[in-house]
Amino acid sequence: MRIPLIAGNWKMNKTVTEARSFVEAVQGKLPAADVVETAIAAPALFLQTMLEANTEDVLRIGAEACYYEDDGAYTGETSPRALHEMGIPYTIVGHSERRRYFNETDDVINRKVQAVFRNGMTPIVCCDETMGRRESGEKIHWVVNQVTAALKGVSPEDAAKIVIAYEPSWAIGSGTSASTDQAEEGCYLIRQTLADIYSDDLANGVRILYGGSVKPDNIAGLMAKNNVDGVLAGGSSLDENSFIQLANYQNL
Ligand code: 13P
Repeated sequence: MRIPLIAGNWKMNKTVTEARSFVEAVQGKLPAADVVETAIAAPALFLQTMLEANTEDVLRIGAEACYYEDDGAYTGETSPRALHEMGIPYTIVGHSERRRYFNETDDVINRKVQAVFRNGMTPIVCCDETMGRRESGEKIHWVVNQVTAALKGVSPEDAAKIVIAYEPSWAIGSGTSASTDQAEEGCYLIRQTLADIYSDDLANGVRILYGGSVKPDNIAGLMAKNNVDGVLAGGSSLDENSFIQLANYQNL
């Protein structure tokens, strides 16, 4: 059974003080992790404070990015080895903003996926799709190519643990989510790609999330789709009440 995963990606927002108050505010208000898993990916400099404030230990505290080497002369980068030592279970890899603004290529993303697994964490790998590509009918190959490239050389044991997020960049930050059918189509395609690379069994066990303008008022429709196992929310994960609503989408 795929346990739904409701994850937030804070991007470059908040301060340490604000991050602490958010984590304090959600204690006791999130579903049990074996029913609906919840996670927030936050900037590395907040993580220790968030872990300390997370007394109930239901919310998973994740990172937004890391480097593909464990240590070394890479000024300003975040070590996956150090994240693991802190007790961080998840790291986002390959967000469209990393691809676009920081020139992360499929090869870099593949190295990062391997580094995250090597250090005992789970990557949440994001796949992008632009409106231009969608309209030209090219989208299908693009998402397939991104998943295939991200998983190059990844063993079935590791791939079985991966989380993949379908995040069309035309829906990110736009205020308008993809339709529930579009979200389902993207997530289904990703599952088919996993089945082609590995096996049906493996593909059926992997959680695939939808991201792009997910809000409390549209999450239930998205989550009702067969291949949508969770969401990756940006803006609506910043406010604690809105995140609590997303996490409790089954009661909305
Ligand atoms: P928004 O929810 O703000 O559209 O952002 C989505 C996103 O990029 C999550 O990674």
